[in-house]
Amino acid sequence: MEWRDSRRLNMMLFLVCPTFWSSFLVLWPSQVATEGHDEVLCQGDKTIDTLFVMNSSGHEDDLDMSDVNETFTCLLYPTNVVNCSWSFLTLEKATQLSVFISICDIDTAVQSLSHSPGERVGSRSLTLSPSWQQQHGRLFAILQFNMSLHDKWTVYTYVYDKDTLELLSPPPNIKATVKDEGLLVTWGVPQNQSHQCFQYELDLGDQEAPKRLRAKGSYTELNADPTRSYRVRMRTKKVETCSGSLQWSEWSPTVVVKPSVQSVQLNTLLIVLISLGIPMILLAVLLLVRYQRVFELLFPPIPCPPPKYIHFLEKDDASSFFHPALSSKAEEEITEVEEAKENPGKTF
Ligand SMILES: *[C@@H]1O[C@H](CO)[C@@H](O)[C@H](O)[C@H]1NC(C)=O
Ligand SMILES: *[C@@H]1O[C@H](CO)[C@@H](O)[C@H](O)[C@H]1NC(C)=O
Ligand SMILES: *[C@@H]1O[C@H](CO)[C@@H](O)[C@H](O)[C@H]1NC(C)=O
Ligand SMILES: *[C@@H]1O[C@H](CO)[C@@H](O)[C@H](O)[C@H]1NC(C)=O
Ligand SMILES: *[C@@H]1O[C@H](CO)[C@@H](O)[C@H](O)[C@H]1NC(C)=O
Repeated sequence: MEWRDSRRLNMMLFLVCPTFWSSFLVLWPSQVATEGHDEVLCQGDKTIDTLFVMNSSGHEDDLDMSDVNETFTCLLYPTNVVNCSWSFLTLEKATQLSVFISICDIDTAVQSLSHSPGERVGSRSLTLSPSWQQQHGRLFAILQFNMSLHDKWTVYTYVYDKDTLELLSPPPNIKATVKDEGLLVTWGVPQNQSHQCFQYELDLGDQEAPKRLRAKGSYTELNADPTRSYRVRMRTKKVETCSGSLQWSEWSPTVVVKPSVQSVQLNTLLIVLISLGIPMILLAVLLLVRYQRVFELLFPPIPCPPPKYIHFLEKDDASSFFHPALSSKAEEEITEVEEAKENPGKTF
């Protein structure tokens, strides 16, 4: 909300004293190329979150970052390093790029850096002097790009205050426990501010993408698996409606949640079951195989010749060279002989 207010204030100033603004804007282009360029930048308009564009035709505009193809950002790290990086990939080949970075104590330049010709994609950093470490409240950083081709140029100017410059620290006091209802993760608000201004990413150390959370201080992962351990870490960034860096913070240190005691017992039980179960199953399979063999021994399969052989076998043919056919013929003959012997006996 802060930047909106400052923008509104600027608009009001512009309406109240147009003569001041027109004189200032006429003054700017004539002085930029001089020695005190950083002083001029620090004394200029400090509207946060707005890209000020002007070109050699005298055209000026306030744009949103999303209105231009070029991307750039400046960040102040906890090590007191200000690092500005940019990517101007759609720039025409012959265009020369110059980069200026000015660090201002309100409207006095304290440190600056000029880089020309600049690469299409690059970064430059400067370390704030120790005397500056206590004064971040008065800190502004101004990043300026001059893209010039022949006698024509376009200049981008962007102002950062402490809030928009500073890399957020990760959420503090992250705690994670597995309870009956699931994995409960709680954390504190960064910078003692309201949760409403922050969004979070929660990484549970599984293979899944981090979860996006907004404006909360806790999260419960239902269906948490009590038998596995979780490696919980988080990072944060401001939501777009609040003033501040739109960059993700670093990841927090990882909080490890060990499997609960109950799950250890469960594991032991599982091991016992498996170690007992595998021999049992093997035994059953073995018995089944053996039983099948015994069955085959006791009840051998009945041979079943194909129909054409059956027909052949049934034919009463002495020339048959099949042994079963011969034996059946012999049986018949024997029967006949027996009958012949019996018949004379009966007649007596
Ligand atoms: C941009 O660069 C060109 C060429 O170096 C220079 O003539 C012009 O004054 C610069 N404009 C600003 C606003 O610095
Ligand atoms: C300056 O910007 C205006 C509006 O975008 C454009 O019409 C004009 O051609 C630009 N001039 C140069 C020199 O780029
Ligand atoms: C952004 O780049 C595209 C493709 O190069 C171009 O068509 C478009 O006009 C550019 N937009 C601006 C605002 O420069
Ligand atoms: C500055 O940021 C760029 C891009 O993120 C990175 O490649 C570079 O190493 C950083 N430089 C320093 C000094 O941190
Ligand atoms: C946060 O607030 C507490 C009490 O409201 C205070 O003791 C602590 O110093 C504050 N921390 C920061 C970083 O501002």
